[in-house]
Amino acid sequence: MPVLDADRLVAALRGAFARDVGRIELLRLAAEKIRAAGAPYTSVYLYMLHGEELVLEAFAGRETDHTRIAVGQGVCGTAVATGEDQNVPDVRAISNYLACNAWTRSELVVLIRRGSTVLGQIDVDSDVPDPFTPDEEAAVRKVADALAVLL
Ligand code: SME
Repeated sequence: MPVLDADRLVAALRGAFARDVGRIELLRLAAEKIRAAGAPYTSVYLYMLHGEELVLEAFAGRETDHTRIAVGQGVCGTAVATGEDQNVPDVRAISNYLACNAWTRSELVVLIRRGSTVLGQIDVDSDVPDPFTPDEEAAVRKVADALAVLL
């Protein structure tokens, strides 16, 4: 069983959408509820694609200086450039990693797609090495797929 209860989170997002909370609040809710699952979820960043740049629109956890990331840059920009989710078990092994702090050990980036269009991504930082199992990744993907419909 994954740590993240995606079905419950998606239900909360749908409820918020039905109350007309707006885009930023939906992103903020997703970030906060994923982080609230606890370890291995340390910090959660919602970057949305604006042209050739990823822009940080909501987050929960540690602050980051990387509020704008060019497509192709870092783990986040690589996900968009390649069209593939990124599961990095050890960030120290990645040459183009953009470090936000000294404690992050691993990172998961799941794209938010509507059809073939990339809208943005859920970026999870973890202090735990190699924590994102296929089940865990699938749980984050459920949230990303829900956001793609609701945003
Ligand atoms: N580590 C990311 C940058 C974003 S921060 O983790 C919030 C990267 O390499 O793209």
